[in-house]
Amino acid sequence: MQERETWSSKLGFILACIGAAIGLGNIWMFPWRLGAYGGAAFLIPYLFFVLVLGTTGLMEEFSFGRSKKKGAIGAFEDVYKDKGLNFGDKLGIIPVLGVTGVFIFYSIVVGWILKYFTLTLTNSFESIESIPAYFGTFVGTPNTILWHLIGILLTVIIVSFGIKEGIEKVNKVMMPILFGILVILLFRSLTLPGAKAGIKFLLLPDWSKLSDPITWIMALGQSFFTVSLGGAAMLVYGSYLKEDVDIPSSAFNTVLFNTISSFLAAFVIIPATFAFGLDPQAGPPLLFITVPTIFKSMPGGYFFGALFFLSVVFAALSSAINLIEVPVEALIERFSLSRKKSVFIVGFLAFLIGLPLDLNMNIFGLFADTVTVYLIPIGAVLAAITFFWVYGVDNARNEINKGAEKPLGIWWEPFAKYIFTGVAIIVLVLGIIYGGIG
Ligand code: PFF
Repeated sequence: MQERETWSSKLGFILACIGAAIGLGNIWMFPWRLGAYGGAAFLIPYLFFVLVLGTTGLMEEFSFGRSKKKGAIGAFEDVYKDKGLNFGDKLGIIPVLGVTGVFIFYSIVVGWILKYFTLTLTNSFESIESIPAYFGTFVGTPNTILWHLIGILLTVIIVSFGIKEGIEKVNKVMMPILFGILVILLFRSLTLPGAKAGIKFLLLPDWSKLSDPITWIMALGQSFFTVSLGGAAMLVYGSYLKEDVDIPSSAFNTVLFNTISSFLAAFVIIPATFAFGLDPQAGPPLLFITVPTIFKSMPGGYFFGALFFLSVVFAALSSAINLIEVPVEALIERFSLSRKKSVFIVGFLAFLIGLPLDLNMNIFGLFADTVTVYLIPIGAVLAAITFFWVYGVDNARNEINKGAEKPLGIWWEPFAKYIFTGVAIIVLVLGIIYGGIG
């Protein structure tokens, strides 16, 4: 057996986690939600939930992975075996399937983004008469297949190089550039004539929204999804950690930079949509119709458009790398496969399973909803129960405190065991009731 790889530095680990957390949730969900749920008022529940619950969930997954030096299947197996129970590995398959499911539909979106990036590079939006019509002839059609394949190949190549040489190295390049680009675009967007209305939309607090439970529910769902809590994705990155890394501080930094990126995305996109009199709606139309329309009409739009889509490529690719690592690690650990073989198998299967999603947006929607409404929240609940209840919250706190400059006090134990696990269950139930809140 080969020795398990580790991150080469604490910074490398944190950048990889920031890359994993920042993704489509930050760029095409947060900006719209901030405006739609009361602007600055939405920030109160969101910041509260992400700081308190997001950080707790990350500490849980990092230290669970580190303590067992295995991904979810092996880590769950160990915990239950110690109690004389033999079904841990089977339970661990659920979060691994959930994250693999996210990878399957995420890699398709990575393909769309790559296509859009090349369209901006070649200045092609200039000659596309109707961007909504163009989007309609692209997604849900065979035209996406090649781009989907390129998205998977890029991910597969990076991850085949391993933790230090692949995942860590590319994140060290992509993350600083991602933030640099967002700051440049922020200045561009905020200086557009008419941008003020967008700033008002984002920041003017509509306090009445705080008395509407849906604001709190959406903020709660967002706080789990945005830092990738599903019981496997952050856990696998934790499994490559050395004992001396400070987990509470790493979790806090991941939440902090993840939140900064959401704000930047919101202040880049929304003021620009207002400046051009467009409607800042949620989901795919925002990124693939509204945003290209903005760049088409903006002075210097060619340059800024290419920068924008490059930053989205980085945000999505750094998440796809994390997502694919979950099934890849599982195959390596369970079947003693080489990394190269394992990455190839996962990439190939994910591509095949994704093909029907390429061709039909209804299937795409159904698949994405099933994974994000059921599997991911169930994975988060299972991980919390397994680590805080079965492994034991006192052991969990010990694991988290190894290497911590400011160790967690005993007060944290009832909080993690009862409140965090309870809220994870609430997130699952509310997601099912509302058809998705993450
Ligand atoms: N955090 C990712 C995003 O914001 O796009 C999404 C995600 C990845 C959620 C992995 C859950 C997960 F397990």
